Amino acid sequence: MMLGNRRNFIFRVSIVINIAVLLYAAMHLSGSTAPGVEWVPLTVDGSERSAEYRYIIREELRNDSDSRPLESSIRNFEESTSQKTPSTVATTNKTSSSTASIAELEKKILNLVPSEAETTNETMLDIVDENALSEATLARLRMLLVCNERDFLPMTVQRGEFWVLKNYVRADHGSILCHETITYTTHAGFEFLDNVQPLVERWMAPVSLAIHAPGADMAPTVNSIRYLRDCLGNDLIRQFVTFHIFFSNKHIPSKLPDPESFLSTPYNCTAKPPYNVNASTTYMKEKSLLYPVNVARNIARDAALTHFVLPSDIELYPSPNLIPRFLNMIARNGKPLNTTTNPRVFPISIFEVDAKVQVPSTKTELQAMLANKTAIPFHKHVCPNCHNIPQGQQWMSAAETNQMDVFHVGKRRGKFVHWEPIFIGTHQDPHYDERLSWEGKKDKMTQGYVLCVQDYNFMILNNAFLIHKPGIKHYVKNAKRDAIAGRQSSFVKNTIMPELKKLFGTRNGCAL
Ligand SMILES: *[C@@H]1O[C@H](CO)[C@@H](O)[C@H](O)[C@H]1NC(C)=O
Ligand SMILES: *[C@@H]1O[C@H](CO)[C@@H](O)[C@H](O)[C@H]1NC(C)=O
Ligand SMILES: *[C@@H]1O[C@H](CO)[C@@H](O)[C@H](O)[C@H]1NC(C)=O
Ligand SMILES: *[C@@H]1O[C@H](CO)[C@@H](O)[C@H](O)[C@H]1NC(C)=O
Ligand SMILES: *[C@@H]1O[C@H](CO)[C@@H](O)[C@H](O)[C@H]1NC(C)=O
Repeated sequence: MMLGNRRNFIFRVSIVINIAVLLYAAMHLSGSTAPGVEWVPLTVDGSERSAEYRYIIREELRNDSDSRPLESSIRNFEESTSQKTPSTVATTNKTSSSTASIAELEKKILNLVPSEAETTNETMLDIVDENALSEATLARLRMLLVCNERDFLPMTVQRGEFWVLKNYVRADHGSILCHETITYTTHAGFEFLDNVQPLVERWMAPVSLAIHAPGADMAPTVNSIRYLRDCLGNDLIRQFVTFHIFFSNKHIPSKLPDPESFLSTPYNCTAKPPYNVNASTTYMKEKSLLYPVNVARNIARDAALTHFVLPSDIELYPSPNLIPRFLNMIARNGKPLNTTTNPRVFPISIFEVDAKVQVPSTKTELQAMLANKTAIPFHKHVCPNCHNIPQGQQWMSAAETNQMDVFHVGKRRGKFVHWEPIFIGTHQDPHYDERLSWEGKKDKMTQGYVLCVQDYNFMILNNAFLIHKPGIKHYVKNAKRDAIAGRQSSFVKNTIMPELKKLFGTRNGCAL
């Protein structure tokens, strides 16, 4: 049988390649960057198409881990040698959009073979344009990050009491290498999807979006996705946004439309956007369901294809050019990036602006708006201390510079012990506790505690910022929500905290 032969072939190739990956990883882990040691692309059975096979094999193994390249290569190797019947071969039919660009992927990987000069860390990178990523920068990133490509297949998976339609509607961006960009990972109910367009226009890179769609919220969710892709007059959402759907097993929608069929019919754009609804009329609100914010956050982050992720709230719009500037900074690897070995994340300062004003594009514009009070620090009127950031005042008065750098290295201690920062991080950072709801508040505190115990450095970025969807918020008392928050708070204190102490230990100055 043809299929059997192909399977066998791939199986043999996977062994050869995994050994090679192992050696490659070992070479780098041992710090050997001796000139003359070069990564030569493999040729298998006389074929030049090693990158393609490597990619296919990765898809089939569903390597979920981005961490510790050596260990995961070993695991890959073990999995591939013990895997007798690759059950995913039958799904090749469904991967057309991700496999269509294998040639493109192969080209990208071959371009990354480092030249001799680039294999030595001492070489200074000559960055001409901070808003672009040169071949040399990309090659340097590949070496520094040692990350793995991740799969991009639609899958129905379980997550506690929730069903997840992962990669339900995929972006058209094709293959993405893990080092070459950053994924904005976020979540919402469909009634918040008006934020997607302004968000993507500023981010211009992959977005991984988890949508909570219990029961009858599924139909307007699908219509909203179709509207966003077909009716906004440009291709940005199609190109960049991948949609995941999830719902509790107690609220499974009556119909689960097949994306392959609804995506092949253009949406009727004459009606108003399906996401413009009265938020209190959704199925979720009618059934008084709580919003499982941390399940959503974890789904979106886990599905991201890149090493770096920005887990954020859908109403926070990033400053333009954040990605190339950030990655150029990482590639330069200057101080303080190269002087500490603590794990690290990169918090981004957050602001609110008046409902009627233009969202600022540069820090200089933002500062002018702060001066005339059309912009204010985030949640200044709602919960001033939640977003107090180390050296926040200094940040606001420091002039914009021409490249991205770390402004200040902070810790989540002392005055900042309750800080809930939004930051660029990686798949290795602790997850969010899935038992906590949005209504219960302080839903990121448990992650913050673990970051503190693990002695993370919070490397605050100098010119980057996030702007909340225009409209300055004021505190509104909500007795129902306060009651839920009270229950969640004691659950965190009495149940979660003792767990975290057992699992992660304690450290002076760390608290919830
Ligand atoms: C996908 O599968 C269908 C039948 O399930 C088949 O008719 C079609 O040709 C396949 N498409 C590709 C690209 O293999
Ligand atoms: C689209 O919807 C409008 C009303 O919502 C209707 O009048 C029109 O005929 C529809 N167009 C198509 C092509 O179905
Ligand atoms: C939204 O719906 C609720 C309940 O149906 C109603 O009380 C409220 O006035 C509506 N809000 C708006 C802005 O229409
Ligand atoms: C870190 O980078 C700086 C440049 O910003 C350089 O001068 C220094 O030697 C580097 N330190 C190490 C330990 O590599
Ligand atoms: C505040 O400053 C911004 C930026 O300079 C400007 O666009 C805006 O018109 C100013 N608004 C007021 C009310 O002064």
